[in-house]
Amino acid sequence: MGFVHYTVSIHYDRRLYRQDIAGSIAHARMLAKQAIISDEEAELIVTGLASIREEIQAGTFPWKEDLEDIHMNVEARLHEKIGSEVAGKLHTGRSRNDQVSLDMRMYVKEAILDTVKGIRDLQAAILDIAEAHRGVLMPGYTHLQRAQPVLFSHHMLAYFHMLERDCHRFQDCYGRADVLPLGSGALAGVPYPTDREFLARELGFAGVSANSMDAVSDRDFLAEYHSAGAICMMHLSRMAEEFVIWSSHEFGFISLAEDYVTGSSIMPQKRNPDFAEIARGKTGRVYGNLMGILTVLKGLPLTYNRDLQEDKEGAFDTIDTLLATLEVFRGMVSTLKVNAEHMTGTAGEGYMLATDLADYLVSARGVPFREAHGIVNKLCGYAVSRGKELHQLEIEEYRLFSPQFGEDVYTVTAESSVAARDVEGGTAPRRVEAALAHARNLLDSALGDKPWAEGEEG
Ligand code: ARG
Repeated sequence: MGFVHYTVSIHYDRRLYRQDIAGSIAHARMLAKQAIISDEEAELIVTGLASIREEIQAGTFPWKEDLEDIHMNVEARLHEKIGSEVAGKLHTGRSRNDQVSLDMRMYVKEAILDTVKGIRDLQAAILDIAEAHRGVLMPGYTHLQRAQPVLFSHHMLAYFHMLERDCHRFQDCYGRADVLPLGSGALAGVPYPTDREFLARELGFAGVSANSMDAVSDRDFLAEYHSAGAICMMHLSRMAEEFVIWSSHEFGFISLAEDYVTGSSIMPQKRNPDFAEIARGKTGRVYGNLMGILTVLKGLPLTYNRDLQEDKEGAFDTIDTLLATLEVFRGMVSTLKVNAEHMTGTAGEGYMLATDLADYLVSARGVPFREAHGIVNKLCGYAVSRGKELHQLEIEEYRLFSPQFGEDVYTVTAESSVAARDVEGGTAPRRVEAALAHARNLLDSALGDKPWAEGEEG
């Protein structure tokens, strides 16, 4: 056998068996419909293929490495089962080049449905926790420095919207995968009266490819899945990072459920956020797989080149990683405990209301914003030097910096700060309430109608 092992793909492309067999069954039916083979021959082929599928599912299929890939393994077995006289007709008007593209497209279409479902489930968990903690305040950060108070629900909804964009990216990719390549043959089309529209209908494709040379060499739909997957993992890694930070003793904003932390072998007090950390780490391999497919495709001359066989392992790995990570996050989010009192308590601490004091001078006293900013800047410096927080300063101390400060300065609180951000997309409670309702609507309608999912094959 020599170096054959180097070129074979059966140990990983056997995953495509359902798609490969479904594609062959549709192809056989089309050949009969077009009188390229007889109805009896097609029936024999279809029955043989169905029994091969059963063998694979039962784990009794005799996989052969020297048969290289899934297509040849299935075809060779068909010969054994129904005899070469008829089995030999299945590959009429088809090449492994359009066949493998078909299989991958079908596989990715299914993967997208699973991915979008995983994202929707995670969005639902995020929305649940956001709705359940209405009114809980927390410090909002820039540069990981406390900046301004926000509602916890508002913070969580930020992730909801990142994931919403992810859904759209995957759905967009679905449309590009949803094109039937069969009929392209090896590269130039086939010299038989095939019916590509029939095949597309049978296999649940929205349309057929327009150029046979492009069709057998195109893997854009994979690059797009990888790209959408990399962006989605990037979002999840950001959420992971926040969970790591929030669950630290220093923050103490949340506690992750027992199932999502592990203890240390030597430090009994530890509750390490391993799941979040591993998710953050797995983002690296998903980025790697994106670079992998882009590099495999780079500089390939038309049309099919065997390099394309290297499209599979990375795609399977990214799909597996993403689906598992979404599932873990759904569980982690739906079981995490929010330390609401502590979080709300920290929202008014320190100097987070500095902007609001400046806004107070502007709104209540007509001071120009830049001047107000300068006054509060000096006031903060003074408070820090006295070891006091802003709300602990006496009114006389405020007045050292501007005579415009009145007793009502003490009405500036974390609650008033949040309520003042009353713009569309802002953190004011009534805006967040509307945002929660909007998010709920988005989810409900997304679950109800999935026009992009019509091509799902059974
Ligand atoms: N195993 C191959 C792949 O994954 C199938 C196509 C082979 N075509 C060929 N002309 N050798 O790309």
